[in-house]
Amino acid sequence: MEKDIKRAFLAQINIPEDTSKIFADYAKQFEELMMIYQCAIQEVTTKLEILSQEMSVRHRRNPIESIKYRIKKPQSIAEKLIRNGKDITIASVSENLNDVAGVRVICSFIDDIYTVANMLTRQDDVKLIAVKDYIKSPKPNGYRSYHMIIEIPVFFSDVKQSVKVEVQIRTIAMDFWASLEHQVKYKHDIPNPDAIAARLKKCADVISATDEEMQNIAQQIELL
Ligand code: GTP
Ligand code: MG
Repeated sequence: MEKDIKRAFLAQINIPEDTSKIFADYAKQFEELMMIYQCAIQEVTTKLEILSQEMSVRHRRNPIESIKYRIKKPQSIAEKLIRNGKDITIASVSENLNDVAGVRVICSFIDDIYTVANMLTRQDDVKLIAVKDYIKSPKPNGYRSYHMIIEIPVFFSDVKQSVKVEVQIRTIAMDFWASLEHQVKYKHDIPNPDAIAARLKKCADVISATDEEMQNIAQQIELL
């Protein structure tokens, strides 16, 4: 009975039954892929939480202020594949995208960023794939952050799978800047975008100088 209803519904919307099965299979494969990325995020955040816990107990201060994470939405995945002229297939996602799984680490001081990056990448199951240091080489708009693509093994019941995770590490101040700049980027009805961009660039430079001065002060009082 249920099958008849389904067949009638599919006929009404002009989708043959085997097409509907293809969609269902595809959805299942996509769900599985997202589950794998979710597990990879869990592994990386656990690694960072362990480091954070250790530093809190063994050292005077903890370089990790907070940890955030996100998984890329299906629509953004499709948009990025199309933008880059890639196939819209399940295999294409893991082949062509490095940022489906994203973890962001927020630190107090600039030096902490490099400390955290080293602590993570020297672990023997973490493979460093790529680094973009937008702190040493800021983007023209003023964006600063330390980006890494890492690959980690995730163990499932039958296989070990290597999964790529994008890790962004930045200071509290850089994060504050990036979140406003991100909102500006996606707002399309700004009356004078060039003036806003110039003001944001100025803020980025002030923030950078402040981050450096805060670090100098902390070093002078031997906090770092
Ligand atoms: P995407 O296609 O945007 O992922 O860039 P990419 O593959 O060239 O990598 P990149 O390391 O430059 O940027 C990766 C991510 O960093 C972006 O998805 C953003 O989350 C962040 N990011 C990079 N540039 C900027 C920027 O100018 N402003 C803000 N707010 N975030 C940025
Ligand atoms: Mg991205």
